[in-house]
Amino acid sequence: MDIDTARRQLAEIGQDHLLAFVDDLPPEQRSALLTQIAAIDLPSLPPLIERYVKSDGHIEIPSDLSPATYYPRDPDSETRSWNAAQYEDAGASLIASGSVACFTVAGGQGSRLGYDGPKGCYPTGCVSGKPLFQVFAEGILATERAYDCELPWYIMTSPLNHEATVAFFSDNEHFGLDAERIHFFAQGTMPSFDKETGKILLAEKGKVATNPDGHGGAFRALVTSGALDDMRTRGVQHISYWQVDNPHVRVADPVFLGLHATAPDSSGEMSSKMLPKAEAAEKVGVFCESGGKTVIIEYSDMPEKLAKETDAKGNLRFLAGSIAIHAIGVAFVERVVNGDSLPYHRAVKKVPHVDLGAGERVEPSEPNAVKLERFIFDAVPLAESSIVYETDRVEEFAPVKNKEGVDSIVTSKQLQTERAARWLEAAGVEIPRRSDGKPDCVIEISPMTALSAAQLRRRDDLPKAIERGATVEL
Ligand code: UD1
Repeated sequence: MDIDTARRQLAEIGQDHLLAFVDDLPPEQRSALLTQIAAIDLPSLPPLIERYVKSDGHIEIPSDLSPATYYPRDPDSETRSWNAAQYEDAGASLIASGSVACFTVAGGQGSRLGYDGPKGCYPTGCVSGKPLFQVFAEGILATERAYDCELPWYIMTSPLNHEATVAFFSDNEHFGLDAERIHFFAQGTMPSFDKETGKILLAEKGKVATNPDGHGGAFRALVTSGALDDMRTRGVQHISYWQVDNPHVRVADPVFLGLHATAPDSSGEMSSKMLPKAEAAEKVGVFCESGGKTVIIEYSDMPEKLAKETDAKGNLRFLAGSIAIHAIGVAFVERVVNGDSLPYHRAVKKVPHVDLGAGERVEPSEPNAVKLERFIFDAVPLAESSIVYETDRVEEFAPVKNKEGVDSIVTSKQLQTERAARWLEAAGVEIPRRSDGKPDCVIEISPMTALSAAQLRRRDDLPKAIERGATVEL
């Protein structure tokens, strides 16, 4: 894009201040700025600014909202009985035949964790200190061995952490995985806007301030990066999706994939795992139904009154919390991208920028900017029919999100030990427990040792007991 075209197109949408310092820039910086501007979908911005920046982008909560139905974890449950073995077989066949790919979204900025690097590099193993990426890599390797199959892995980064992520894998020899089956791609970005004026901020005189476009950007990025074509070439039909923050994820769960692909009430397009919320205020999206479709209402949008509603037994009525684990059909990704219908969500944040008058850098002390993001789970209601499957908190959700408190490395490590203790006890190994029932030891089970309690039980090299106070890695 040449400078006159850029100036004209920017002026048409009231954003030509982005070229305020262009004459001061050396040639390379000038052309980098023009390239950056050319990549922005300029005509799409004015309505977005009106809706999400100048007003609060309020999300209407549908008036017919009711709790979503789900497949209970216990297949013999009174509320709904179903044939878990049948779905496990169906899912196992999909995995074994190479029809499943793994997909991790790892483009977030991880600011809440206060970690200065890609979140997947964060040391998480409660004994080994293994980074999250290694835990997933071992889960994939162990699954490939168990099913004698290939499980390609797609990792979505952002322009902010792409290089560091790729380098981390290559420095660690891809944690034993075949590098040819790992596909990294960066998600897209959106400009960051001044909260008061709707003007796009300049991060530097020659650089537009941008932010990753949310994990909902995954749909488009899967297509534009060539990842979706790569999946098709490999014969992949379904994607096992998870967020980078959860070391307890099952990278390819046969029961879940079987339900997603073959249950009569699933269109095989987008399915989700849920767990019962720990409390009304837990910061997880909630599965609901509206207009005959499954929808997820994000915790920040869920009216407090509804979140707190209880049923006759005193249980939360809107109980089903999202742990951001989905199964997604490859064909569905294309349908969503072509429809391009995911909404944006606004987040008000502090974004350092260049002051247009003095040209000096401003480090705001208060949130000054609006970032726009798309959420992957807004695609759920676009599926013809989407199922939800209940799982167990200890088994599958030990996220590392915050520096301390809930969902921190401390709680994740406790859950890792608790899950390992449960699996070992189920295999007949004695575990020392304190008076409050918590394990009085620290245990980490590598995915290479076992991917489930059932697999662990089949091993013949387990200790008889774990000593009180011991730290054990199996
Ligand atoms: C998220 C979900 C919430 C769910 C909870 C379960 C959102 C908005 N909310 O909350 O419904 O109940 O997890 O753990 O996701 N990411 C990208 N690119 C981006 C932004 C995020 O790849 O542009 C990735 C992050 O790397 C991370 C994940 O998405 O893996 C979650 O993002 P985050 O914003 O931390 O969401 P949560 O508040 O944890």
